[in-house]
Amino acid sequence: MTAPKRPRPVPLPEAHWPDAATAAAARLFQPLSLGPRTARTRTWVPAMVPWRATDDGFVTPNNLDWYGRFARGRPGVLVAEATGIRDVKSGPLLRIGHDRFVPGLRDLVQRVKDESDGETLFFVQLIDFLVVRRRPEPATWFARWYRPQPGHAAALADITGRAEDAALDDDALRTALQEAGPEAWRAVLDERAFEELERGYRERVTDTHLPHIRDLPQVLPELFASAARRAVEAGFDGVELHYAHAYTMASFLSRTNVRTDGYGGSPEGRLRLPLEVLAAVRAAVGDAAVVGARILGDEVIAGGSRIDDACRYAIALAEGGLDVLSLSKGGRFEDAKVPRIGEAVYPYTGPSGHECMPTVRIDERGPFARNLPLAAAVRNAVHQAGHAMPIVAAGGFCTFDMMEDALVAGHADAIASARQSLADPDWFEKIRQGRGDEIRRCVFTNYCEGLDQMHREVTCKLWDKDIAPDDTTTPRAADGRRRLVAPPWLAS
Ligand SMILES: Cc1cc2nc3c(=O)[nH]c(=O)nc-3n(C[C@H](O)[C@H](O)[C@H](O)COP(=O)(O)O)c2cc1C
Ligand code: SF4
Repeated sequence: MTAPKRPRPVPLPEAHWPDAATAAAARLFQPLSLGPRTARTRTWVPAMVPWRATDDGFVTPNNLDWYGRFARGRPGVLVAEATGIRDVKSGPLLRIGHDRFVPGLRDLVQRVKDESDGETLFFVQLIDFLVVRRRPEPATWFARWYRPQPGHAAALADITGRAEDAALDDDALRTALQEAGPEAWRAVLDERAFEELERGYRERVTDTHLPHIRDLPQVLPELFASAARRAVEAGFDGVELHYAHAYTMASFLSRTNVRTDGYGGSPEGRLRLPLEVLAAVRAAVGDAAVVGARILGDEVIAGGSRIDDACRYAIALAEGGLDVLSLSKGGRFEDAKVPRIGEAVYPYTGPSGHECMPTVRIDERGPFARNLPLAAAVRNAVHQAGHAMPIVAAGGFCTFDMMEDALVAGHADAIASARQSLADPDWFEKIRQGRGDEIRRCVFTNYCEGLDQMHREVTCKLWDKDIAPDDTTTPRAADGRRRLVAPPWLAS
């Protein structure tokens, strides 16, 4: 059998950088009103998890350096990584689920304000997620988690051809089924149990037989509202409610949400909790902070929400008082790759994940402004409904023309650039100063994303290539080889 051909990489688009006067007149560098605040420009660095917090979720000096470095490039808005709203362990990701996190977050805000001379608005993305366990050893799963069901023994007997298997007691069945191997597991186990064995246990918002899942609509508004209140206390200019990708709130918005308790099963039902969370957050922060959200323009998975759903959700969120909406795409668990034993399923490994962070190998169109049609459709629908809520587009933006054309055409109100900003956090500023030729251009091959997947400190492969040998100030990873922040813009 021949392996499927990997698509050839598409070349990076040619870039024509403007001079300073052209840049100054560009829409990209005009202010954007976001409810109670105004962004100085329409440049935006969206949330990117760097894996730099303590294991308990506190801000570290490396977090300060990471966000401070982005702030030095003075984007209009910088969004801090997906930050957990619960007081539970979640590894080296930032958390905001208790007042003890506020002092560290306040230091983070101060660093961003200092580095950007107060020019960058700093938001924090608020996330809730459900339990995802690592893929178990089959022996462990059969011993600890397998629950024999009526009919399993008979089904095994059909496969093995041994009539006596139909009479096995539970303990003997456990052993016999484990020994029978993957084909038998697939045939005997129900879909969910097989998935648990093959990919690891993963909760869904539809698991309403579990009390803590059933009660999500009762607990999440207050959890998000308390987190938002802490964000204001820490000095953030705004919060971004994470209603995108593989996490709890996106799963409520998903067409796959068939809850029958009024929080699923219809567009109104799917929207109910996101709107209740928004109302609770707004009540908690009033006009003290921008309240934004990030949703999916398309889930990409079979049976998932599509652009029509996203348009409907955007209008409802605008009517609910949302200040700004950021659009993403895909990044779901459902089509993710089967993980190795001992690893957890990762939502950016399947086709929907590839659409979320598209590389130069995605197809002949490539990643460049790939998801802009989703933002354009949502913006159009929101405007048609009589709202002016700004829309932020993301996905493969890496030249001035790409961004400016999207804004001038009215496809978006701000442009978010994650990986190009990672490759060169000064890139917006270089464009603004008419020094675009000095930009270190992202190659969109996702070395950074591979590190994220392995839960290792995220860095860019280009940072280590043009190291000034005399630069001793840039912090490095423990192995001494990788830079933990982008090298300084030496010409500045
Ligand atoms: C390392 C890494 C971490 C990311 N973490 C988040 C996150 O915490 N929240 C989020 O909404 N998106 C996250 N994203 C997705 C980006 O915000 C962005 O939507 C995506 O990379 C596409 O934009 P780009 O083509 O400009 O990179 C992450 C992306 C990368 C590369
Ligand atoms: S590691 Fe690669 S994809 Fe990631 S920011 Fe750097 S150049 Fe871009």
